[in-house]
Amino acid sequence: MSLTGKRLLLVISGGIAAYKSLDLIRRLKERGAVVTPVMTAGAQAFITPLAVGALSATAVYTELFSREDEQDVGHIRLARDCDLIVVAPATANILAKMANGLADDLASTVLLATNRPVLVAPAMNPMMWANPATRRNVERLKADGIQFVGPMAGEMAEKGEAGIGRMAEPLEIVASVEALLSPADKPLAGRRIVMTSGPTHEPIDPVRYIANRSSGRQGHAIAAALARLGAEVTLVSGPVTLPDPDGVDVVHVERAEEMREAVLSALPADAAVMVAAVADWRVASASSQKIKKQEGEGPAPLQLTENPDILKTVGHHPLRPKLVIGFAAETQDVEKNGLAKLSRKGADLIVANDVSPETGIMGGTRNRVKIISKEGIEEWPDLTKDEVAARLAALIAGRLREPEA
Ligand code: C5P
Repeated sequence: MSLTGKRLLLVISGGIAAYKSLDLIRRLKERGAVVTPVMTAGAQAFITPLAVGALSATAVYTELFSREDEQDVGHIRLARDCDLIVVAPATANILAKMANGLADDLASTVLLATNRPVLVAPAMNPMMWANPATRRNVERLKADGIQFVGPMAGEMAEKGEAGIGRMAEPLEIVASVEALLSPADKPLAGRRIVMTSGPTHEPIDPVRYIANRSSGRQGHAIAAALARLGAEVTLVSGPVTLPDPDGVDVVHVERAEEMREAVLSALPADAAVMVAAVADWRVASASSQKIKKQEGEGPAPLQLTENPDILKTVGHHPLRPKLVIGFAAETQDVEKNGLAKLSRKGADLIVANDVSPETGIMGGTRNRVKIISKEGIEEWPDLTKDEVAARLAALIAGRLREPEA
């Protein structure tokens, strides 16, 4: 299998197995991957950045506070601009730092800042691997979704010691990388998708705002499902109490206008999925001071003005994605309103649902939707929001595979 065009960040930490990382770089590059190495101080005690850079043919990053490197890429971009981070060898120390969220050098900071999948290839003395502290850290990392390859049983560098702790061989690490990046399971690999989710908050004054009951559950579930299929998802989220979905770039906003800006700056994209319950109206001029109650006077009238329609803007944009999907939360005439919305907003699909209070959909965990397109209307059964998300992600993958009309 080829890794052509795959961007790997290789974190090399300080163990004698670091010499095998040189071979690992060669093997990954043979398969077409672009390898960007990050070395800890410990790694540099075993192999030199010069040797690593000569093999990777890319810059080698070693310092957290390097002025030149920060101006060039910056540790946050380093953490995000890749398809996978491989830590090989991963010492007991770096596993401990990862498990506890420590960030005291470039490698551990990148690992804390990333939203990409991480594969670790531990290498350490068997006593260290067996130590209850390492056991706890490994369990915690696995629970956090970190992938492991090895360690293997065998002879140690230390004379006469054997046991579990040898780093997996480079070709085994390559096989794990390939399995994680396998396009067979990742039909959306290489696809960029921009999404919105959640409500918007439209300020009245510094302490009050207009909002709605959207929880962001459906939108966030769709973002996670798309990321699981390999898509590069930018999720522009209004204020929600949900955690950021794994493997998704999240931009947090409050107001509709901020949401529009964030969506437009995420273009071009292959698809746009606009799930947010964007407020149709905002207060024409929000007060910069808290509006005081005036004794004996009624409330000051609120002047409202229309918010930008983000879906419609994207649906008619010069950089319009190939596939534009909107949602229609209705309390009546779901199909009729959905069909009207399709052409008005310039969308290819409208996912329509009935959000009457008795359905419990708004803010709940289940959903019952109709997929409206010019080809017809498809009704889906009552499903959890995660199930709706998985089906929709599969549908999007299918649509993006179709050749341009
Ligand atoms: O017109 P309506 O609000 O019913 O349309 C819902 C669809 O349009 C949703 O996909 C929603 O995310 C999107 N929308 C938007 N910007 C608005 C209003 C709605 O993107 N201002």
